[in-house]
Amino acid sequence: MDCTFAVYRFDPAVDRKGRYQRYVVPAESGDKVLDCLNRIRWEQDPTLAFRASCAHGICGSDAMVINGRVALACQKLVRDFNTANHFVIEPLPVFQVIKDLVVDLRPFFEKHRAVRPHLVTNGAHPEKERRQSAENQQFIEPALRCILCAACTASCPITRVNPNYLGPAALLRAFRYICDARDAITLERLRKLDDEDGIWGCETMWWCTEVCPKGIPVTKCLGQIKRLLKKEDSSD
Ligand code: FES
Repeated sequence: MDCTFAVYRFDPAVDRKGRYQRYVVPAESGDKVLDCLNRIRWEQDPTLAFRASCAHGICGSDAMVINGRVALACQKLVRDFNTANHFVIEPLPVFQVIKDLVVDLRPFFEKHRAVRPHLVTNGAHPEKERRQSAENQQFIEPALRCILCAACTASCPITRVNPNYLGPAALLRAFRYICDARDAITLERLRKLDDEDGIWGCETMWWCTEVCPKGIPVTKCLGQIKRLLKKEDSSD
């Protein structure tokens, strides 16, 4: 069957504003949206820019808006959409477009870095690995599935109105270390998030959870941070 794709095109070097370019792509119902975009680029228009690498939902590089909803192009099949084989493909919102479907993710990764996304420990290094209990590992396991695709942050209504808000992905990474029993700066991490640009920017709208391609309960994890901070405040 033939599918039609209206793909957002914008090259800031030559275009004043974006436009949608129409492509007709022969596809099977089990083809991925990424397969179709590859077909466009390989067979019709090599100037179309988008990111993709693993094609299996691992690298997180092909998050984009597909028929109005943020998703990974490699995880969505043609048959997942009830739109008469018509697809509208747009870049992630919130971020600046570099070209076509490629956006500038530097602000996203700066916020990720700001939460110190690594274990901080005290004392001498152990001879073997730092042991973690199975219960503790299980508790933070959902957050370990994050592939930093930015789907949650791009979908978050708060990120759209407050550019300083850390956003769900960075907060989820913070949760991962706050709740890791081996980390030595839990309180410091919590205090850093204790404002409107941090955890209190989250208004529990669940969009992050809805779009997460790894099924992470992002909103619930962020709720844990809020609970811990309230607990801290009440014990002061
Ligand atoms: S291409 Fe790697 S997650 Fe889709």
